[in-house]
Amino acid sequence: MTTDPLKVFVTRRLPQPALDRLADQNIILDLWDSDLPPDGDTMLSHSMDIDGILCLLTDRIDAKLIEQSNRLRVISNMAVGTDNIDVKYATERGIPVGNTPNVLTDTTADFAFALLMSAARRIVEADSYVREGQWKTWGPNVLLGHDLHGATLGIIGLGAIGRGVALRAKGFSMNILYTSRSRSTAPDNLNATLVTLEELLTNADFVSVHVPLTDETRNLIGKHEFSLMKQNSVFVNTSRGGVVDQQALIQALKEGKPAMAALDVTTVEPIKMDDELLTLPNLIITPHIASASVTTRTKMANMAVDNLLAGLRGSPLPNCVNLQ
Ligand code: GLV
Repeated sequence: MTTDPLKVFVTRRLPQPALDRLADQNIILDLWDSDLPPDGDTMLSHSMDIDGILCLLTDRIDAKLIEQSNRLRVISNMAVGTDNIDVKYATERGIPVGNTPNVLTDTTADFAFALLMSAARRIVEADSYVREGQWKTWGPNVLLGHDLHGATLGIIGLGAIGRGVALRAKGFSMNILYTSRSRSTAPDNLNATLVTLEELLTNADFVSVHVPLTDETRNLIGKHEFSLMKQNSVFVNTSRGGVVDQQALIQALKEGKPAMAALDVTTVEPIKMDDELLTLPNLIITPHIASASVTTRTKMANMAVDNLLAGLRGSPLPNCVNLQ
């Protein structure tokens, strides 16, 4: 017996191996074959009467979009974070929401650590210094940074990625403080100490944020929190821009506490070119690429396809954030 093909909207060109897997199925594939995301109206018009959607963190999946198709069986996000999706509403409608945890943990932790080191040792600034012809000699006071070894790292949120960063910090002989909303204990080998957010900010030389964006964590780090940080501290965010009050960060960077920030995420993405953040010399900024390695992005796309196909079949998703 043949069954009617299922309609699926894939909101961006994925790594080819993952896309190829959709071609073999009984699927009518609507692929937004572009490097840029569909806008809100396009998202709505392409989501009419679909059975499944494979989307990215740049796509807003709100109640209006979810309502558009009473056939919708699965929302598969190619990201670990699902703050772009109205998960509560999807749950009310009985629609599973898939994500891509674990495969990106080490890649993201590598990148957070790379930002930490770049900020500490002024690598971006040093690169410009050479290219601009300022390298005249080896000098005892040229481009002095701060040591990671022996310094204290504060990890806000000891989930999988936070632990990955802690493991790397351990290898660099750093002292590790962490906060955890679930008060989860750090593995013994990390020798990390659970503290309050205030204690962490007051004592850490480096602070790295690893919490998901939720109603509780929105603007978690604001004016008061920056005021607690040490004079020469470095602030790194690879989680979500919304966890930080960005106006407060601009003011804090102007006042030199933290001395330096390295951000992979901002409140509006992409950041507007006239955003005051971009005028600050004590900022390193990258375009949300912490999980962007060839291997990891291919794994994420394949996991998103796994979730999508399971949802279309009516089977439990291998990685589901709501229903199972
Ligand atoms: C990236 O930010 C992700 O949530 O996967």
